[in-house]
Amino acid sequence: ASANRIERDVVIIGAGASGLTAANALRDAGHSVVVLEARDRVGGRLWTREIDGATLEIGGQWVSPDQDALIDTLAELGLETYSRYREGDSVYVAADGTRTRFTGEIFPVAPETAAEIERLIALLDGLVAEVDPAAPWDHPRAAEYDQVSWKQWLSEQTDDVEARDNIALYIAEAMLTKPSHAFSLLQALLMAASAGSFSHLVDADFILDKRVVGGLQQVPLKLAERLGDDVILNAAVRRLEWTGGADASGADGTPIQGVVAYADGGIEVAAKRAIVALPPNLFERIDFQPALPRLVQQAHQHLSLGLVIKVHAVYATPFWREQGLSGTAFSPYRIVHEAYDNSYDGDPRGTLVGFVSDQKADDVFSLPAEERKARILASLADYYGPEALSPEVYFESDWAAEEWTRGAYAASYDLGGLSRYGAHQTTPVGPIHWSCSDFAPEGYQHVDGAIRLGRTTAAAIAEQLRG
Ligand code: FDA
Repeated sequence: ASANRIERDVVIIGAGASGLTAANALRDAGHSVVVLEARDRVGGRLWTREIDGATLEIGGQWVSPDQDALIDTLAELGLETYSRYREGDSVYVAADGTRTRFTGEIFPVAPETAAEIERLIALLDGLVAEVDPAAPWDHPRAAEYDQVSWKQWLSEQTDDVEARDNIALYIAEAMLTKPSHAFSLLQALLMAASAGSFSHLVDADFILDKRVVGGLQQVPLKLAERLGDDVILNAAVRRLEWTGGADASGADGTPIQGVVAYADGGIEVAAKRAIVALPPNLFERIDFQPALPRLVQQAHQHLSLGLVIKVHAVYATPFWREQGLSGTAFSPYRIVHEAYDNSYDGDPRGTLVGFVSDQKADDVFSLPAEERKARILASLADYYGPEALSPEVYFESDWAAEEWTRGAYAASYDLGGLSRYGAHQTTPVGPIHWSCSDFAPEGYQHVDGAIRLGRTTAAAIAEQLRG
């Protein structure tokens, strides 16, 4: 046996919120664990950094009131939250460049368009209420809803282009970070159902409610601290050997025996069970031996991460507040489609955060860095005025360039994939279980979902190991 051979009940691959939650739950249930992490840090898509003297949330940061699993975890870890600054008017920029201040949720558009937006929100709330986020594929019209793109469906509902563009934004640019033609109505309904309703996605005060003092990466950092030496960094798992039936219950007659994970640094872990706690676009980077079953290999190819650049701009003061602006800004027609006051708790400076999504991100990434920055800041200046052009600190979170993520925020299926494969996405393969925010019913794509799935996966394994 190798000098670095480790034996545990469960090996967890990936030290993100999901993997670390599962590891702690299993250890609390009396099982031995080890977490193997590819990066030189824990947290995955959560990363709080000091950049030129400013504390920035490079990845996930906001907590919404329905996210019980995350809220419980924050309380358990002794972490405190604060509210996002939101006093004053929001800003909307129309297709012709007109800038309008507004309050409330509905963008300041012509009354007929506002009425269409309200009608579509009500229609969507009705459809979403029929979808179980734990099983959207069981909806009687799942296959039909999964064949039509979000864009196509919206164009069938209304001829009002601005109403369509605004409604499309809440799921496309703002959540799945894919163009609205690239995913289905069913996928859009799941996104909204996982957040409780479509109205919740429209309500920035709900969806972007609180932040965590010290940063949201505190969650994985504290969870990892509890595990001590049982979290190993710089240990990318390259190969996973598994034995036992493809059916986790062993019902196909082959008893589950276990796994051996081979990671960088010559590390070998033999365990009874494995949890693969990665975004699904990275599953294929592990060499599974034997290969995964046909359906699983197919399913994984139909999941991909969206793309968004999170832009941070820190100014000497939060100058927009003096103009009576909240910092909240939207436009389906600008490079930065949404932006917020993201000033860090206790820092007298003002921070704006903006998002550049999908094909707009491709476009600006094709430019030299200085030109990209100039374009993005010009887009912020469209919302807040020329002062936005000169931040003290400027930073772009570029998750697509991160080898161990490769996109943002999370994964979704291509057209037809959710109804075809979704029901199988978390079914264990022999001793191998799957856990990530990308497969979560409630809190899908969010830290809350990563934690929820971490808990359920751990509970399922603990149950198997007991029996
Ligand atoms: P995650 O990707 O975090 O963890 C997987 C881990 O596996 C990583 O640490 C990775 O390095 C590791 N890994 C990969 N391959 C490996 C291998 N072969 N071997 C070993 N380790 C391997 N959510 C939210 O609730 N509120 C928000 O405001 C936001 N905003 C936001 C902004 C941005 C820019 C991003 C990128 C994401 C968000 N999110 C968010 C989403 C949220 O951050 C995300 O859903 C969860 O953090 C995902 O946690 P997981 O544990 O599922 O995966």
